[in-house]
Amino acid sequence: MTALDGIKVLDFTHIQSGPSCTQLLAWLGADVIKIERPGTGDVTRGQLNDIPDADSLYFTMLNHNKRSIELDAKNETGKEVLGRLIAACDVLVENFAPGALDRMGFSWERMQKINPRLILASIKGFGPGKHEDCKVYENIAQCVGGSASTTGFRDGPPLVTAAQIGDSGTGLHLALGIVAALFQRERTGKGQKVSCAMQDSVLNLTRVKMRDQQRLAAGPLREYSQFGEGISFGDTTPRAGNDGGGGQPGRILKCMGWETDPNAYIYFVIQGHVWEKICDVIGRPEWKTETGYATAGERLDKLSQVFSTIEEWTMTKTKFEVMEICNPHDIPVGPILSMKELAEDEALYKSGTMVRVPHPARGEYLSVGCPIKFSDSCVPVTRSPLLGEHTEEILSGLLGLQSEEITRIHASGATGKTK
Ligand code: COA
Repeated sequence: MTALDGIKVLDFTHIQSGPSCTQLLAWLGADVIKIERPGTGDVTRGQLNDIPDADSLYFTMLNHNKRSIELDAKNETGKEVLGRLIAACDVLVENFAPGALDRMGFSWERMQKINPRLILASIKGFGPGKHEDCKVYENIAQCVGGSASTTGFRDGPPLVTAAQIGDSGTGLHLALGIVAALFQRERTGKGQKVSCAMQDSVLNLTRVKMRDQQRLAAGPLREYSQFGEGISFGDTTPRAGNDGGGGQPGRILKCMGWETDPNAYIYFVIQGHVWEKICDVIGRPEWKTETGYATAGERLDKLSQVFSTIEEWTMTKTKFEVMEICNPHDIPVGPILSMKELAEDEALYKSGTMVRVPHPARGEYLSVGCPIKFSDSCVPVTRSPLLGEHTEEILSGLLGLQSEEITRIHASGATGKTK
């Protein structure tokens, strides 16, 4: 039994934002049917390929647990099939450029007529306003959502983050919206339109920096390193390097081997109530009572000096030794783990967070499994579909079409098959 058992999702998505949403729904047990352009499919099947003639990891890692139907939605017969699929499904998810669905002839009004219980879920770059027609990709979303202006170091340019908060972050928001709309439909019997703009999703994920924007009116942001360095604040939230973003100061500190290993670092948080333990661990017991160091407030203008002293200690240990020493004292620290280290962490495979997936064209590949764990719902990860792998079974099984009708559809060119 799975959480979304019986829910049928038309996955009219491409690249990352939409596919990340529908992959979550598929993991939760929905039957997710990916509609792909005949012959080519999702453009990511052929991007960043590492193995000739095999779907790329870009595609396979975002399209697990789905079925694929090839369908030309601009072909008249293809439109007829799309209409039938809309009638048969609970949710349609799309992330085309603004207006693409309308141009295909499938406005929201028309879809509601076809299936009043349908939930139409859309991702666009911007919400309503002067940019609503713009096309948007991940890094653009990070820039227009406030993340880039607040990421990086004060004396460097704005930075994008590797975490795909624009694409997968929006996909995650949309998946929640879809599940909520399904829940509401239980009571009203009606579908609705659910939309997420990438700019809005990034801004939601960057909300702590909007918090700081408003706090600036009350004076300098005392937990930012620049306060201790005596550098004045301007009128907008500055970039804060690796400073802790909350009430507990933090920094990335060098560990043993940092000269040659780019990931020999640890994030170290000075949580106020374990300050005395930190002093003991790093060999500065006098700081427990010394004026200027004893309380969190007193330390705010000396954070760089305090962290440098802690770093002198962390540099004598590996990042894992620092963690082993600090954890028993409840001192929050986190080693900087490389992708290689994560890929080799067997505990992650045991929990299903990392998975090894067999694939007919690729062989076995690694992927990130479902990060949501249920006590009463099984989340197996199955490989992404080959292009059009399920065209026949969807036409006959889901739509109940007879073989003559399927032959007519193929002959029209709508599925990219001619037989
Ligand atoms: N059959 C027929 N036509 C199809 C089709 C199918 N199965 N699947 C897609 N198409 C058509 C679309 O209808 C569209 O045609 P139109 O331009 O005549 O309306 C065309 O393919 C291209 O779609 P579009 O979405 O414009 O693709 P793009 O590659 O030019 O732009 C994005 C890509 C991501 C920039 C754009 O889709 C976008 O801004 N999406 C919303 C924001 C988003 O999700 N961005 C992040 C993506 S990870």
